[in-house]
Amino acid sequence: MTLADSQLADALEMYRPAQETPDETVLPLTGSVPQELRGALYRNGPADWDHGGFRAAHPFDGDGLVVKFTIADGEVRFRSRFVDTPKRRKEARGRGAHIRGVYTQGKHLWDNTGRQPADTANTHAVIHADRLLALSDAGRPWEIDRDDLSTIGPCTFDGRLPRFSRFSPHPRIDPDTGELFNFGLDVSPSLSGPTVACLRCFRVDPNGGLTQIAKIPTDHIYIQHDFAITPTYLVFALAPITVDPIRAGWAGLGLTALGDSADYRPEQGMRIVLVPRRGGPHRIVECDPLVYVHVDNAYEDRGDVVLDIVRHQDFDFLTAGLKKFRTQAPTLGWPTRLRITQGGRVHVTDYPTAPAEFPTHDERRTGHEHRYTYLSAQREADQNMIVKLDRATDTQRGHTFAPGVVAGEPIFVPKNPGAEEDEGWILAVAYNSGAHRTELHILDAAAIEGPALAVAILPGRHFPGFHGSFTDRI
Ligand SMILES: [Fe+2]
Repeated sequence: MTLADSQLADALEMYRPAQETPDETVLPLTGSVPQELRGALYRNGPADWDHGGFRAAHPFDGDGLVVKFTIADGEVRFRSRFVDTPKRRKEARGRGAHIRGVYTQGKHLWDNTGRQPADTANTHAVIHADRLLALSDAGRPWEIDRDDLSTIGPCTFDGRLPRFSRFSPHPRIDPDTGELFNFGLDVSPSLSGPTVACLRCFRVDPNGGLTQIAKIPTDHIYIQHDFAITPTYLVFALAPITVDPIRAGWAGLGLTALGDSADYRPEQGMRIVLVPRRGGPHRIVECDPLVYVHVDNAYEDRGDVVLDIVRHQDFDFLTAGLKKFRTQAPTLGWPTRLRITQGGRVHVTDYPTAPAEFPTHDERRTGHEHRYTYLSAQREADQNMIVKLDRATDTQRGHTFAPGVVAGEPIFVPKNPGAEEDEGWILAVAYNSGAHRTELHILDAAAIEGPALAVAILPGRHFPGFHGSFTDRI
């Protein structure tokens, strides 16, 4: 084994099953936490891929672990709990081998035939209308107690979310109105004709009341993970990552995994769909296809809509690539901007960085032009960094972690409600592969190259997770 091999093996230890920490614990620190930094950081991500006989074939099939960092008075407190899904309970009964995931097949054909993937609740932790929701692509929204992280149950929005409707893991909250917008891609098998797919768009008011604001039929079953909002529109860039009906048939019979029925099919072209937030007909703009998963932000500029995403070379990174998560590091992408003109053209501009993912911005700028984008990036095989992209000057700066420290999504927290963009802190959960532990790094966003202001050391180890939210309410 070469040195690089052994470093990779250490880093991949983050995918070993984690233990939950349900009792709150005060974390040991290096450095000092700014006294003005006060609030709670919630994050979610898969953290157990091997439970009760289940052995995940893909990271997306791991059980969701919701973690909470409470930061106040220069101290960081921590707790974590797995979401109490039917999948988790079945695993606890030793029945995990019979669970079907998105990419993982149950042991017997009859464990898979006609079955939907088990709900993992493992992708995002979102706070809105006094609710903490654990969200994923394949499952229901789960309401979690924001204090002790116990699972309250599936959130139906008082019965207003249709039973079989999805509720994507990437809702967007308008910072001006407090409304949350989201979508779900629904599929209705039809006995009389082809399968019908549609994009349902939802608005959740600041008090938590859900209404459906649009239902748009689509010509394919898209795999759509993310979107954006502007003051006028919900913005969907429908990349041609779609379900092949024949392969979906095999998957329905239980012969293959459901996740394997989707693929990138560039011959289908790409459509940008602009859905008016306040009703009215939607607009479709066609463009050359590309592959992406995550959206950073969108805004309106003199009649154009500008959409920032992270683009990838190919779709295999998400399927065949991530299936090797136990032995191989993932492939990353790069920031790209799509300008959708009033006249119906789409201009694509790439912003080369170190290979990157998990784009974020100051959420007070959601739907508006933002100057800074923060990304988790891999500078070299063993060197991870947070890239800060300055869109006003088209320059980039960054914070480079010590070798072997692998950070997840960076989350920006403003110093106070009136602070300038970038005047605040970056919170990044990282796996320290040398020490085999997980850490919370607190960086000064404006002086991002500098050493961490503080590092809080967790009692155990878990994958840094996919997405999360900060709230100043403890
Ligand atoms: Fe995501």
